[in-house]
Amino acid sequence: MARKYETKGKQLVSRVIPVENFDLVIFGGTGDLARRKILPGLFRRFRSGQMPDDARIIGAARSDLDSKGYRAEIKSALEEFVSSKYRPEDAVDGFLERIEYVAIDAMGDGGWKELKSLMRDGVVKAFYFSVAPSLFGPLAERLHDFKIADRDSRIVVEKPFGRDLESARALNKTLRDSFEEDQIYRIDHYLGKETVQNLMAVRFGNMLFEPLWNSKYVDHVQITVAEEVGVDGRGAYYDRSGAMRDMVQNHLMQLLCLIAMEPPSRFDPDAVRDEKLKVIRALDPVASRDIVRGQYTSSKKGEGYLEQVENPDSQTESFIAMKLHISNWRWSGVPFFLRTGKRLKARQSEISIIFKDTPHSIFGDDSGGSQNVLAIRLQPNEGITLSVTIKEPGPGGMRLVDVPLDMTFADALGPDAEDVPDAYERLIMDVIRGNQTLFMRGDEVEAAWAWTDPLIEGWASKGDRPSPYDVGSTGPEEAAILLHRDGRRWREIRS
Ligand code: BG6
Repeated sequence: MARKYETKGKQLVSRVIPVENFDLVIFGGTGDLARRKILPGLFRRFRSGQMPDDARIIGAARSDLDSKGYRAEIKSALEEFVSSKYRPEDAVDGFLERIEYVAIDAMGDGGWKELKSLMRDGVVKAFYFSVAPSLFGPLAERLHDFKIADRDSRIVVEKPFGRDLESARALNKTLRDSFEEDQIYRIDHYLGKETVQNLMAVRFGNMLFEPLWNSKYVDHVQITVAEEVGVDGRGAYYDRSGAMRDMVQNHLMQLLCLIAMEPPSRFDPDAVRDEKLKVIRALDPVASRDIVRGQYTSSKKGEGYLEQVENPDSQTESFIAMKLHISNWRWSGVPFFLRTGKRLKARQSEISIIFKDTPHSIFGDDSGGSQNVLAIRLQPNEGITLSVTIKEPGPGGMRLVDVPLDMTFADALGPDAEDVPDAYERLIMDVIRGNQTLFMRGDEVEAAWAWTDPLIEGWASKGDRPSPYDVGSTGPEEAAILLHRDGRRWREIRS
């Protein structure tokens, strides 16, 4: 079963809708993502009574464990990643009863027959590939060859989905050799975030915004995903990727698509993904003067990037800011500014639509007030704010001020706010329901790489060096200049 929110008075209340019975196999079931996100997410679903009674989760990995040993590992993962308030003992015990484990050799034959014997007929079969992309092919082949998967089965794959167009194409081909496109769920966890879905609700569920959502009324759009964390233990992966591959090609691109796409005819997988694809294909190439790359350097707030990766002369960017244009009727002439980086001043992700000035100020140019801004906060304090200009209360003539019309989800959700479903659990439940709307289609991923590749090749061929920025700052100076040049400014990153 799954939960739907509705409003009752000032509060959102939930209503339960059914999910089919399932066997979910997690390849890489002992790995970090499984411990940190997938299993705690499934536990929350179970605890809220939203999992069918005999749904089963089967961990599969190289480790030589049995189901009992695996359950003990999961128990400790839940203790680490689910707060005790939401972890009653009977719920943990009930959840663990649904867990099995198979030691499996992804590249060989070991364990596959055991896995097959555990799988039931007549339930949804889903296979989560929480493993290195080099194992996607061998896993897909074996699921097929051992006849474990059938035409109704689903596979879930994690990013990175390739590191350029060529490798993404190869990966798509490998998966499609064993599965049809409608069985492949490419996860971008940003699409599972509550506010990201709310962005679509706001755009397409209200009459208010859509007429203004175009170059006639929008001055520019800003998308910021600022992180406080650094590369930490992921230096080896990150140094080969950088912010462009790690964040822009996928998460920021998806946000951009949802903001810029035309209204789909229905909220269904192909209608939505067709529209997103059109946006990616309409992106102009970006001139090098419109891209700023940065790399964090040590400050009193912490050590620098080069101290955290192996290559002491790495030119990988941990920050990127860029100005984009979309060549279509709706957005002609409207710049989209994207920015993301690690070890910045604060964790803050926000999409802001900055509207144009009124055509003429009847109150005079120095009366105060500024442009309307619709800000969609992804994290923290998920919510939506619309800043509008009003008269400053009191005497003293017509002085204008901006005030926020604020909808912070935590307020609307009341006591349930801490317990809003996490992006992963929502997406996994969509896999079980067979709904691909919030997953990337193969052609979308390829189109995103086709746009990204020349930019990366451009700076690599010129030997471009990222600009330094202090740990705990808002990024390199050049990023601010990118907007100043146009007489605009980034929205503040608040700590
Ligand atoms: C991941 C990136 O996809 O997203 C990480 O690989 C990044 O580098 C993370 O930190 C950010 O996700 P969130 O949900 O914390 O914003």
